[in-house]
Amino acid sequence: MTEQQFIPQVYSKDITEGTVSWESPSNIALIKYWGKKKDQIPENPSISFTLNACKTTTVLSYTKKETTSDFDFKVYLDGEHKPDFQPKIKTFFERVLVYLPFLKDYTFKIETSNTFPHSSGIASSASGMSALALCLMSLEQQLQPDMTATFFNQKASFLSRLGSGSACRSIEGDLIVWGENETVEGSSDLFGVKYPYAVHENFKNYQDTILLVDKGEKQVSSTVGHNLMHGHPFATQRFAQAHDNLASLKPILESGHLDAFIALIESEALTLHAMMMTSMPYFILMKPNTLEVINKIWAFRKETGLHIGFTLDAGANVHVLYPKSQAEVILKFIKTELASHCQNGQFICDEIGFGAKQINMSH
Ligand code: DP6
Repeated sequence: MTEQQFIPQVYSKDITEGTVSWESPSNIALIKYWGKKKDQIPENPSISFTLNACKTTTVLSYTKKETTSDFDFKVYLDGEHKPDFQPKIKTFFERVLVYLPFLKDYTFKIETSNTFPHSSGIASSASGMSALALCLMSLEQQLQPDMTATFFNQKASFLSRLGSGSACRSIEGDLIVWGENETVEGSSDLFGVKYPYAVHENFKNYQDTILLVDKGEKQVSSTVGHNLMHGHPFATQRFAQAHDNLASLKPILESGHLDAFIALIESEALTLHAMMMTSMPYFILMKPNTLEVINKIWAFRKETGLHIGFTLDAGANVHVLYPKSQAEVILKFIKTELASHCQNGQFICDEIGFGAKQINMSH
C-alpha cells in the first residue's frame, strides 16, 4: 500500500446532506512511538492496547454548499462552540484534502464529547482525531458505496495518523501495531494493523486503571516532544530497540508470560522518559507522585507476587496494567494505597477494547 491508493477516483454518488456519528476509543502504547518524520511517519514501530471506556463521540453533520473555495466548518465540545479548536482541524483538513477531495464541497458541523474529564491530562487527540476521520470516511462511503470494509478501516487509520500519529491505533482492537517492521507481517508506517499472531488468554480483558496524578495541561506538546528525537544522541539505538522489543514481545504475547510482559512494558515507559531527560532541551515529566506510585507498585508486586505493572505516556499520569483475574485485589490496593497520590483522588478504570463503533443516526 502507498499513499496513492487512498486518493479516490471520481465518486459515483451525489450526497447533499446528512449526519453520521462514531465513537472512538483512546489507546495505550506498550511499545512507544516517540520520534517521527514528516506527516507522522513514525521513526519506529509501536504496539498498543485499544481502550474501552476512554473515548470520544463525534457527530458530523454536512450540507453541500454553492462554492468550493475554502473549508467551512464549526467545532463544538459538549455543545459549546470552540473556535480555538478551529486551527488544528483546519491543518488536518488541509493535510487530508488530497485524500478526501469533497472537504471543500460541504459545510460541516463537528460536535464532539469525551467520556473522560476535560483537562484530565489524558490526551484526547487519539480518540478525537480517529472519531473525526471515521465520520469523514462514512461520508466518503456514501459517495463511493462499493468501498470494502477493509479499505474503510485502513483509510480511516491512515487519515487518523495524519491528524495525530497515535490516533491510527484507535480504529480497531484489541492489539494494534503501527510502523513497518520485520516481525509483524503487513505492518505499515501509513496505518495501524491488527496484531496478527496468537495472543494468550492472560491478555484478554487486560485492565488499565489510569491514575490522574497531574491533570494539568501537557508540559511538552507531542510535536515538540517528537522533535526532540531529531539529533538526539541516543535516537538510533532507541529506534533499533523498539524493533527488538516488538520481536521480543511476540513470544511473550503467545505464551502469556506476565513477568516478562511487565519487564518489557515498564522498561519501554521508563525509556520514553529517559529520552526526554536526555534530550536538549531536557524535561522531567514525572511528578513526585508518579515516583511514589511506581515504588508502591514495585513493593506490592514483590510482596504479593501479583502481576501488576505500569506504563506511562509523555506525562505524569500512570497507567496501571494487570490481568482481569487479579483485578479484585489489585483494585483494592489502588483504592487504598495509590488513589491518595492522584489529584482529587481521581482515577479511571478502563480495560482492553475492540475499536471504534458507528452510532446509528436514523432515528
Ligand atoms: C508518548 O500521537 O500524541 O503517547 O503524532 O504528534 O500527534 P503526534 O503525537 P502523539 O504521540 C504519542 C506519543 C506517546 C506514545 C504512543 O502513544 O505511542
